[in-house]
Amino acid sequence: MQTQINILCYAVQLRLPPYIRSVKFCHITTDDVNFFKRTVGDKYVFTDADTISRYSRDETDGCTFPPEVVIKPRTPEEISSLLRYCHEHYIPVSPRAAGTGLSANSLCVHGGVMLCVERMNSILHIDERSLQVTTEPGVITEHLQNTLQEKGLFYPVDPSSRGSSFIGGNVACNSGGPRAVKYGVVKDFVLNLEVVLPTGEIIWTGANTLKNSTGYNFTQLFVGSEGTLGVITKIVLKLLPYPRYNHVMLAPFKSMEDASAAVSAVFRAGIIPSCIEFMERDAIVYVMNFLGDVTVPLADDTQATLLIEVDGNDTEQIQKDCECIYEVLNTYHVGEILYADSEAQKNELWRMRRNIAYAVKKTNVTVEEDTVVPRADLPELLRHIKSVGKKYNFRTVCYGHAGDGNVHVRILKDQLSDEYWKNEVPKGIREIFQKVVELKGTISGEHGIGWFQIPYMDIKFNETQLALMRSVKSVFDPHGIMNPGKIFFT
Ligand code: LAC
Ligand code: ZN
Repeated sequence: MQTQINILCYAVQLRLPPYIRSVKFCHITTDDVNFFKRTVGDKYVFTDADTISRYSRDETDGCTFPPEVVIKPRTPEEISSLLRYCHEHYIPVSPRAAGTGLSANSLCVHGGVMLCVERMNSILHIDERSLQVTTEPGVITEHLQNTLQEKGLFYPVDPSSRGSSFIGGNVACNSGGPRAVKYGVVKDFVLNLEVVLPTGEIIWTGANTLKNSTGYNFTQLFVGSEGTLGVITKIVLKLLPYPRYNHVMLAPFKSMEDASAAVSAVFRAGIIPSCIEFMERDAIVYVMNFLGDVTVPLADDTQATLLIEVDGNDTEQIQKDCECIYEVLNTYHVGEILYADSEAQKNELWRMRRNIAYAVKKTNVTVEEDTVVPRADLPELLRHIKSVGKKYNFRTVCYGHAGDGNVHVRILKDQLSDEYWKNEVPKGIREIFQKVVELKGTISGEHGIGWFQIPYMDIKFNETQLALMRSVKSVFDPHGIMNPGKIFFT
């Protein structure tokens, strides 16, 4: 522990452009640790090597940033005392939910405190009259969904990580997932948040209402702010009645072009599927190999597939919608469609889809980018991604939420040298993002910017826009302690 404790203040020097001021933070001292222990209890403050190591990573490829201390508070009041202290002592604090981030969103890039919300894991109140739930941030998203489903209630936002990610992390990153295409992303469900500000005050950001035209929208400012403005301690979500039925189908295409062009045609035909996911051939091959126990028909000439789900309360209407979708897909030369005929088969198809990222990552050194463009521009984006891959000699596996125009691009290192991977591949990534922005899209649809994607922020935002973001942050966080080094250079 002593090696992690250094009583000297230091200026964190990043290799930044000259206009960026350096941030001054303090290392954690024994006195600090004693204060933390008095605040939350000895057994919830960790400085041992195992814990530090475990919390120095998330799901981002190749990123390790050890915190100096890991703290697991239980109440907003404890968090308030911790933040007030850290603010006064210039100690960086990174809030962490389940650590499933893909952009190093919660890692302690400046050291300091990792503040884990895992003990704040109660669903506080399910309001069946107004269809709302109030929950703490450390509840696993899927557990929340299942608990609500037992009461016939639906919280549709289902990131692939929902079996392990926490609702608080989903809110902090404005997560999406397959059902966003019909139901929206996290921001469309958050009504109100309790947050602890970096200076220690505890506030509610909005109201438990479906409408709110009362002053600035603090709630939406906190959604997706990646822990840079405060710590979310309670969340009020709007709910829907659970749709009674769904149909799931897997549609193969001979070209990515046809598969991706078919997506916007489905909506133009008047249908809003609850999910319409794109998986290129390699994604399916990798995931079938990885899981070992899921097999779907994959003809030799299939280059891409769409996994489509239609839901609702009227089976006849769902059937009609599926027929209409079939007509549309047929004009794009769809192959033989697999209709899931049991709940078990639907679950298997979804298990396959949700495991793609893990499957590809398992076999290779990879990096994942999260592109999003207007839906109809998907074919152009995919063409561009593949041509950049050819130019820079890297393979990509593309998959994702086609209905949202949101494509995850997993880039494989394969035989590329470390040098090339480090210096040349990012140039290719820049070219992909430049195209995304040219198409009026953006450089993350749902994974956030965190630390990992900061080098590309200049493609999307100019200095005026970035300066506004910095100014907003400094109003909430005058000493810059909250999750520093994230979203933009501070
Ligand atoms: C997915 C995650 C990686 O869509 O966003 O699987
Ligand atoms: Zn995704």
